[in-house]
Amino acid sequence: MSERRVWRPFRLSDSPAQRELEVLASAKKSMDVRKAFQSNPHRVQELSFELEGLYVDMSKQRLDTETQSALLALAEEAHVRGAIGDLFGGERLNTTEDRAVLHMAMRAAPGDCFEVDGQDVLKEVLEVRERMLAFVDRVHEWHREGQITDVVNIGIGGSDLGPAMAVRALRQFGNGPTCHFVSNVDGAHLESVLEDLDPKSTMLVIVSKTFTTQETMANARLAKAWLERGGGELSRQLVAVSTNTEATEAFGVSGSQTFGFENWVGGRYSMWGPVGICIALSVGRDRFEEFLSGARVVDQHVQTADLAQNIPVQLALLGHWNQNCLGFRSHVVLPYAEDLNRLPAYLQQADMESNGKNIARDGEHVSWNTGAVVWGEPGTNSQHAFFQLLHQGTEIHPVDFVAFAKPTSRYHDMHRMLLANALAQAEALLQGKKAPEGEPHRAFEGNRPSTFMLFDRLTPKALGMLVALHEHRIFVQGVLWGIASFDQWGVELGKAMANALLPELNGEQQVGAHDASTTALVERLRE
Ligand code: F6P
Repeated sequence: MSERRVWRPFRLSDSPAQRELEVLASAKKSMDVRKAFQSNPHRVQELSFELEGLYVDMSKQRLDTETQSALLALAEEAHVRGAIGDLFGGERLNTTEDRAVLHMAMRAAPGDCFEVDGQDVLKEVLEVRERMLAFVDRVHEWHREGQITDVVNIGIGGSDLGPAMAVRALRQFGNGPTCHFVSNVDGAHLESVLEDLDPKSTMLVIVSKTFTTQETMANARLAKAWLERGGGELSRQLVAVSTNTEATEAFGVSGSQTFGFENWVGGRYSMWGPVGICIALSVGRDRFEEFLSGARVVDQHVQTADLAQNIPVQLALLGHWNQNCLGFRSHVVLPYAEDLNRLPAYLQQADMESNGKNIARDGEHVSWNTGAVVWGEPGTNSQHAFFQLLHQGTEIHPVDFVAFAKPTSRYHDMHRMLLANALAQAEALLQGKKAPEGEPHRAFEGNRPSTFMLFDRLTPKALGMLVALHEHRIFVQGVLWGIASFDQWGVELGKAMANALLPELNGEQQVGAHDASTTALVERLRE
């Protein structure tokens, strides 16, 4: 088990290890990774990691053993090991909301130990999980009998992105009703989903941690009315997932169709419990449990592996090196798997809502970079969209390739084409190519960094591992940067202003005091 100590604020700007890294970076910034491969035959082994069917190769990054040791020194100084202990120990790491951060308990197995304020929380988690999975079994029976054909998940942010990503990722394992996702407050989203569904055989699952989110409640009210109008049976076809069971009851959801969870599960970290009900509805009890087991492999690994071999820690240090030492500000995620087409969107929230912060835990401004800009699209589509910029643009954008040795479709030959493309792009980014005489526009500089993550197959377990790896990578980066990764105050202002603007747009209130640009827009829209 990992060391336990109450986490202490750490300022990167005061860190001797960070100063060393900066000195090192000025030398390594121009490091030619191609030459590093030539001079060190062990480079791949030294910079790659393995864990239960996952192979992570960082050897195409501008790293070497000297940099690795300096990064490890930073991890020691930032008390990364102690912070991981605190996370699993249920300390109130979400300081600005005074909450523990225990999403790992939602995927725990009987016999594990998770406590908040000295109280066991696992018993209740396991009871709710069993109640949810028994419900899933029942819905699968209704599905076999043709009574429930479709499920609509209504939620947004963490109540949408993780489950939507996972349901699509596990498409090949789907054996339950078809799951659809409605999130946007643009009525076009709800309309486009409902127009093809039958209210008599559709289940609505309203997912909202707070059960107050404007978008979700607006969609939920309309969908509920649609279900009632169409002769659906509310007592059976309406389900709610929330920490706010008073509000779910007031909305008319029966207690037996309501699944609760606690505030110590952050929205964007919540797909392991009731928020992931659509994942379970889509693939069934056994596959859902495999998904949780994959995450547990990583939970165990992050707590016990030596930091030098600890994959989430190594990924976190690499991200820090790239953006705070080498100045590469974005992080491109390229799943070479169409079924992972929502991975970049899911990671945008997981990473940017967690680490997009400019105030450190001590209340002072940070003077270093925090959350990277995360973006991406599946390969090979992305090759025909933005790879031009990755290969020849003026800035360097480190890339994560995520690939699977075995196909997710029955078209096996196509899978080899897909893999050939992933390997070729990673190699092209690294090797580059000299331009023919007089044609400088055809030059590829090369030496562009990437990480290659290779899983055996896109299974529920592999997906659980992939997500948990990122969750812990994001956590460790928050520790290095000394920020509070588990709140999201930055989304509040816009929400409040939208609520204030609505009556003005509706003409129910005078146009308020805005900047001239907003006033002009409001007036134009009121006309
Ligand atoms: O956008 C902010 C946010 O609070 C996210 O953190 C959260 O995942 C999302 O809104 C949805 O919140 P809720 O689950 O409470 O509806």
